[in-house]
Amino acid sequence: MSAHAAAVTPTGIASIGLHFPPLAMSVEELAQLRGEDPKKYTLGLGCKEMSLCPPDYGVVELATKAAQRAIRRWGGDRTRLGMLAVGTETAVDMSRPLSAWVADRLGLRGAVRSYEVKHACYGGTLAVKQATEWRMSGAAQGKAALVIAADVALYEQGDPGEPTQGAGAVAMVIDEPNVAAIDSMSYPWSEPEFDFWRPVGTSYPLVDGPLSLECYKRAAENCFKALVAKRNPEEALSELAAICFHVPFPKMVKKAVFRVGEFFGWSPEKIEELFRDKVNPTMVWNSLCGNAYTASLWISVANALKGLAIGQRVAAFSYGSGFGAELLTLEAGPMALAGAWEEDIEEDLASRQQVTAAEYETFRGT
Ligand code: COA
Repeated sequence: MSAHAAAVTPTGIASIGLHFPPLAMSVEELAQLRGEDPKKYTLGLGCKEMSLCPPDYGVVELATKAAQRAIRRWGGDRTRLGMLAVGTETAVDMSRPLSAWVADRLGLRGAVRSYEVKHACYGGTLAVKQATEWRMSGAAQGKAALVIAADVALYEQGDPGEPTQGAGAVAMVIDEPNVAAIDSMSYPWSEPEFDFWRPVGTSYPLVDGPLSLECYKRAAENCFKALVAKRNPEEALSELAAICFHVPFPKMVKKAVFRVGEFFGWSPEKIEELFRDKVNPTMVWNSLCGNAYTASLWISVANALKGLAIGQRVAAFSYGSGFGAELLTLEAGPMALAGAWEEDIEEDLASRQQVTAAEYETFRGT
């Protein structure tokens, strides 16, 4: 195969599998427990429900279930999986990658490059980029990659971030672009900051909320500026059927959209319209899940892709504290319209149990 032929290997998302854990709690229930006005969580932050894991359920179970669903839906020969990359910030070991636990559960071994990717909530997107570039470079020799973004986001009890908690996983087989092609050109932006971090040996993250919001907005502004470049912003964004964001909580996304719109010199009404039509609808599943760190953006992308006709385009803004960001663009393939992965969410939502504040306190250990 010539270098040129290798560079045009059709690549993208061939299948998607999603998974939310078996428990959830409404943010109103948490507000009652913390003595807060529920409207702070629902209207102020835009949250609805937090996905929660029972004590015997964690990131390995989340990642494995999403992967099983993605592999089944892909339907390919498992010996064609030449890469397993897991993006997470819920590492179970400082050395052994989460991918080894998942590979064990999936029975994947042999000629597979298996590893974990860490960059806060950006890790899943980096894994997607690495997998696509691996295929497009020709190094994959036609093989497919299994990419998983999985996290359990828990804060210390009483922490202001507690209502934004969540957990979830998205797995994607990166192969032929039957669900969506991923454009090779993307728009990264990074700056070294301490906005959200978790020192080695600690259970919960440390967050500088205002700094994290400012970094996130600055990253969005710079990424969208690069996407639009010298074009008319309205024209450039009108080509997108949906604009997906990493979703720490929906209000944070809205603030970033306003920052981008203000940079383009748009009126508040025009920015509100963009948010209402192209951004807010993509966060329906996020608001029922809460923050799932690396998985959050891809939950939004999975939601946005379902129902799209071939050729419709989506933007995906990834952000990971520390901080690194990247704006990707995707184009719907023939299997986007049917959106088969929606059944994963329907199944998980139908079977999950709502916990009371008292039950929550019990399993959080108070
Ligand atoms: N009714 C309606 N809205 C209310 C309210 C009420 N009774 N009480 C407060 N609010 C609003 C506030 O006005 C504010 O909205 P605004 O920012 O649009 O003005 C919002 O609710 C949050 O209130 P605030 O006082 O800022 O909350 P906080 O100091 O408790 O901070 C977080 C909470 C979640 C914003 C903060 O902890 C945070 O930023 N956390 C982490 C961010 C993150 O996840 N970063 C990760 C990487 S991106």
